[in-house]
Amino acid sequence: MSNKKHVKLNVNGKDEEFLAEPRELLIYTLRERLDITGPHIGCETSHCGACTVTIDGKSVKSCTMYTVQAEGKDVTTIEGIGGPDDLHPLQTAFKEHHGLQCGYCTPGMITRATKLLEENPTPTEEEIRFGMAGNICRCTGYQNIVKSIQAAATEMNAAKEAAE
Ligand code: FES
Ligand code: FES
Repeated sequence: MSNKKHVKLNVNGKDEEFLAEPRELLIYTLRERLDITGPHIGCETSHCGACTVTIDGKSVKSCTMYTVQAEGKDVTTIEGIGGPDDLHPLQTAFKEHHGLQCGYCTPGMITRATKLLEENPTPTEEEIRFGMAGNICRCTGYQNIVKSIQAAATEMNAAKEAAE
């Protein structure tokens, strides 16, 4: 007898419903079942952050969560943050300030950074480094990632002020 469970969740604003084995990890559901390939698989042991998504407003490493645990939740991946024609200020800043090299860590970095700036819109360099400590980059040395997040924060705060 199948022990598959019924799962219903919302990914990037779209309702999804399917049957999943209790051992299926969310990162595989996103990438292989739903074809949402922004979140990457790096370590599968919760160290690298390449698989970071946002679930009900919190940053989560999707390799550490069973899909059945996401039942009823809202999941946002990099695809839900911005696309080629509608870049999020963080995506623009990473592009302009060379916050990426190979790009493998970038979807997780930017997804995590959106939460960081939501929680703290004017972070110091130290706060950025602390807030991003769960995301590893093997290429950049982090300096330009920090610069990109600072630039995005400045841009987003200016846009917010202009709108007030
Ligand atoms: S793949 Fe999930 S933390 Fe590395
Ligand atoms: S840009 Fe290559 S791992 Fe971060």
